[in-house]
Amino acid sequence: MTDAPRKILVTSALPYANGSIHLGHMLEHIQTDIWVRFQKMRGEHCIYVCADDAHGTAIMLKAEETGITPEEQIARVQAEHERDFHGFLIRYDHYHSTHSPENRVLAEQVYTLNRDAGYILEKEITQLYDPVKGMFLADRFVRGTCPKCGAEDQYGDNCEVCSATYTPAELIKPYSTISGATPEERQTTQLFFDLPRFENMLREWLDSDALQPSVANKLREWVDAGLQPWDISREAPYFGFEIPGWPGKYFYVWMDAPVGYMASFRHYCDKHGLDFDEYWREGSTTELHHFIGKDIVNFHGLFWPAMLEGAGLRKPTALHVHGFVTVNGAKMSKSRGTFIKASTYLEHLDPEYLRYYFAAKLGKGVDDFDLNLEDFVLRVNADLVGKVVNIASRTGNFVHKFGGRLPAELDNEALVREVQAAAPRIAALYEAREFGKAIRDIMMLADQANQYINDQAPWKLAKEDGNEAKVLAVCASALNVFRLLVLYLKPVMPALAEKTEAFLRIPPLSWRDADTLLRDHEIERFSAMISRVDNKQVDAMLAASKDTTAAAEPPAPAKKAKKTPAQNTAVTDSTPDTISIDDFLRVKLRVARIVKAAHVDGADKLLQLTLDLGDETRNVFAGIKARYAPEDIEGRLTVVVANLAPRKMKFGMSEGMVLAAGPGGEDIFLLSPDSGAQPGMEVR
Ligand code: MSP
Ligand code: ZN
Repeated sequence: MTDAPRKILVTSALPYANGSIHLGHMLEHIQTDIWVRFQKMRGEHCIYVCADDAHGTAIMLKAEETGITPEEQIARVQAEHERDFHGFLIRYDHYHSTHSPENRVLAEQVYTLNRDAGYILEKEITQLYDPVKGMFLADRFVRGTCPKCGAEDQYGDNCEVCSATYTPAELIKPYSTISGATPEERQTTQLFFDLPRFENMLREWLDSDALQPSVANKLREWVDAGLQPWDISREAPYFGFEIPGWPGKYFYVWMDAPVGYMASFRHYCDKHGLDFDEYWREGSTTELHHFIGKDIVNFHGLFWPAMLEGAGLRKPTALHVHGFVTVNGAKMSKSRGTFIKASTYLEHLDPEYLRYYFAAKLGKGVDDFDLNLEDFVLRVNADLVGKVVNIASRTGNFVHKFGGRLPAELDNEALVREVQAAAPRIAALYEAREFGKAIRDIMMLADQANQYINDQAPWKLAKEDGNEAKVLAVCASALNVFRLLVLYLKPVMPALAEKTEAFLRIPPLSWRDADTLLRDHEIERFSAMISRVDNKQVDAMLAASKDTTAAAEPPAPAKKAKKTPAQNTAVTDSTPDTISIDDFLRVKLRVARIVKAAHVDGADKLLQLTLDLGDETRNVFAGIKARYAPEDIEGRLTVVVANLAPRKMKFGMSEGMVLAAGPGGEDIFLLSPDSGAQPGMEVR
């Protein structure tokens, strides 16, 4: 703890300035933001920068289409991006643009340093040219008939029908997707970065621990297949920076985009008097971490370290690669309404719900991430409302009733100590980007606290005179646990932490505060901190995301392999039909007594059950009428799924599910024998 703070520079990939931020981007920025907030809470010197990626043909065409200049286009989009990220509580130290003076200077520097070191080649190449539009065509702007299988309307570089790869020049009947014209072949001189010269360095880099093993493996395959010089120039018209000494030629967007990380940081350094070179010179002892998606690992894992090396600069400490977001098990789709923009989400739901859900399911791997919306609702309600905030809402009021001050002595010192002792373990999990494991740990501690509160039942104690001191000591234990759990959750849930700090009248929590406890301390009156998510909010978000004009969307192909062979393959995940033991353990099975059973008017299969779960009563509709008459089962015990999200049915709310065995109809066996089980008991 007495060590000097680490100096850490962190980035998220720079979103393109031609489209809106969606929940796929949010996974990356939330993951990064959690890690950064954690580092800051630990007292490390951590700077988080990002920027819009403003260059390239797509952005130029988009501006043209809208009838504005590219500068106007990127300014509009950047304002929108910054607003969305802010809405999700992402806190960059600086957010910049690659179309900035700093980036021009730095891109030129990185280029000239590489050129002067002999790493830039000039090569004459044949390229397709659109004679109507008057511009050279990138592969993805050319389509035509596959030369191998004859499938029509295939991309310029590969066929989606037979998977053949080829050059656009090999296409039969090629056409420009911009003007429809038949492209012509033209000779041009282009500048290439001499990547093969870096093979040895790259092999070493791939063997270092800078990369996740699966990412390193994928990149190694690519190196084994033979590195090629990389074309870093584009012909006018192009929106970007002109290459020094080559009028009419521009840096390819992927040449100056990663330099944008440096540019954003440069701007920050100039404003705050930080030493830029200390972070970028070869041999720097500062850390440089890039959070990126699996589709851009080649740029960050091969080209970028090579360009840095060629310019005599440091290489990244680590790349942290994540998978792609799917929604309800499928690729995000406009027609299904699952292509959810960040701004649409924010119109319907609290940003901390998504931050929590992402954290709860994120690990350090590159597997794709499924946002299952039912699970999302269940989990947010069960964990945040039902476990964490529940601790405060079940005890906070009693403190106020008895004077508003936490006493010095705790009723359950052991429990509080156990929660304190978790701090280093949880910190290590955050550090390793094992957020899901950290959350699981935190929720298990929350379960223990709730169990403790159940056992003590302060609401019962408070009814009798003379229990004041005991009630306060119980609440002090519970609220100390609550404070610690919120501290552990703070990187994920900064707004909840802020409300908690106000409620407990404490300064902003930092990681060190886990060493201390609140004793003899006045607190505020408790007021609600978080509300339950309702499925209706999710439905409204999906409805708002639905693009009805996209209803005829073809089955989406995997994201176009415009980038590299490494794309989409760094991942080993598939969605199996089985559930893990962890999934199963999240199902809370409890014994319940059927205190009342009744027929439901207009329902021929349902009985309405009133269940006693020990500390609460639930209303549940069960499809068991064919087997049981109400009078057969009243007073008997059964097993209920206690943490199933309440479901609105035609006849009312159903707050749980009763488990039954058997094929159905009359052959259903519902009841556990009355064998000493007590309502409320957990079943496993
Ligand atoms: N502009 C480049 C990055 C340049 S970094 C020097 C780019 N932009 S992007 O907008 O297409 O993607 C930005 C980031 O979002 C990438 O890391 C990408 O992997 C990530 N994602 C885009 N869609 C995604 C999902 N559906 N799921 C998860 N991440 C996704 O690439
Ligand atoms: Zn084909």
